[in-house]
Amino acid sequence: MPGSPHHRRRISSPRQGGANNISGMDYGVPRQRSQLVLKVFVAASLTAVCMFILRQPSPSPLGGSGAFAKHETGVTHVLVTGGAGYIGSHAAMRLLEEGYRVTIVDNLSRGNLGAVQALKTLFPRPGRLQFIYADLGDSKAVDEIFQNNAIDAVMHFAAVAYVGESMAEPLRYYHNITSNTLGIMEAMKKHKVQTLIYSSTCATYGEPEKMPITEETPQVPINPYGKAKKMAEEIIKDYVHVKNADMAVVILRYFNVIGSDPKGRLGEAPRPELRAHGRISGACFDAAMGIIPRLEVKGTDYQTKDGTCVRDYIHVTDLVDAHVKALGHAKLNSVAVYNVGTGQGISVQEFVDACKKATGVKIEVKYLDRRPGDYAEVWSDPAKIKAQLNWTATHVNLTENLAIAWKWRKSHPDGYDNSVSLF
Ligand SMILES: NC(=O)c1ccc[n+]([C@@H]2O[C@H](COP(=O)([O-])OP(=O)(O)OC[C@H]3O[C@@H](n4cnc5c(N)ncnc54)[C@H](O)[C@@H]3O)[C@@H](O)[C@H]2O)c1
Repeated sequence: MPGSPHHRRRISSPRQGGANNISGMDYGVPRQRSQLVLKVFVAASLTAVCMFILRQPSPSPLGGSGAFAKHETGVTHVLVTGGAGYIGSHAAMRLLEEGYRVTIVDNLSRGNLGAVQALKTLFPRPGRLQFIYADLGDSKAVDEIFQNNAIDAVMHFAAVAYVGESMAEPLRYYHNITSNTLGIMEAMKKHKVQTLIYSSTCATYGEPEKMPITEETPQVPINPYGKAKKMAEEIIKDYVHVKNADMAVVILRYFNVIGSDPKGRLGEAPRPELRAHGRISGACFDAAMGIIPRLEVKGTDYQTKDGTCVRDYIHVTDLVDAHVKALGHAKLNSVAVYNVGTGQGISVQEFVDACKKATGVKIEVKYLDRRPGDYAEVWSDPAKIKAQLNWTATHVNLTENLAIAWKWRKSHPDGYDNSVSLF
């Protein structure tokens, strides 16, 4: 039947055409030729399209596509190393809120991909946030990240950061902290990125004789973590003071960081395998949730108000605020150093009591011997940062801070969902 599929098949078949009569042949041969030409044309066009597609640079796993590859007037593009981690993710969120462009680099050895996913959900617009999975110990990858991306400033958070672990694995700490910071500095020099905000620590002071700790307090670290950070600071200072280095650096020496985003968008979720090294707030919540049977307080015979260690607990929101202020104040050819703390010393025992109040759980506490590498008491004098950057800690009610962090933790009993895929 003319027009039926069967009919169409028949008239388009060369065999059928070949079997046609002469008049059919006269008609059929030029038609076959034109079909052949058409097929050759289509095949050639497809080959050309494929070659074009193959020649296009595929998006690099080390970033550099779209807005991230170009400097844009009025937009500061900040490379946040360790942005999947606790402090780095809070900092990235604040930068994004303030209109910065953010590239996070993290090897996910400690951080949470789920935190990056949370940021992506909050800031979905293209050109705002990109995540690069890379190890900062890989100098080729670091160079390529700086090559591919138009970075204006670096906030270098990425580090292993547990005092006890540093006593057991010093080489890992010197490599991860000191050597990787050197690598970042070299890449910044090569690619002419001038501004660096560096995450340092009160652990660089060791156990000073006089409290509170000012920026002039001698740095005599007593564990590899503090020593590695101090060495990194020295590398930075030596380079910035070289003629024509043209770098602007702010070193922030944090005291003990606690808390989480007051709006509940991010939290502190130490990965289960890191529990053994745990920081006090994570451990308190783990004990309150019954994930660990009890809280272990290490050392009750220090020369302090109640025998337990005394620390200065700075809220992560305040700390991040100091970073943003530092970014705005970094001056060319200078290294500014600031303590970031509340100026208030709180004992571990006081912390535990506040945690019990905040969670409403009667947490069982086991008192143990001192942990090697710990110092008795440290708290900051934050006068310099207040005077020069107009920064001051505002989240200073420990129980309130813990209650907010606890709310997030309770609603995320298994921490972040790290099964997400951003690649
Ligand atoms: N948490 C505190 O109380 C505190 C106190 C003082 C200083 N600091 C400093 O603040 C920074 C951030 O600490 P945090 O508490 O958020 O730790 P964190 O472990 O939560 O985050 C660190 C992040 O860095 C990443 N990272 C580690 N090594 C890396 C590498 N080689 N390449 C790429 N990524 C890597 C980890 O995967 C992780 O996401 C660190 O430099 C730490 O020394 C923290």
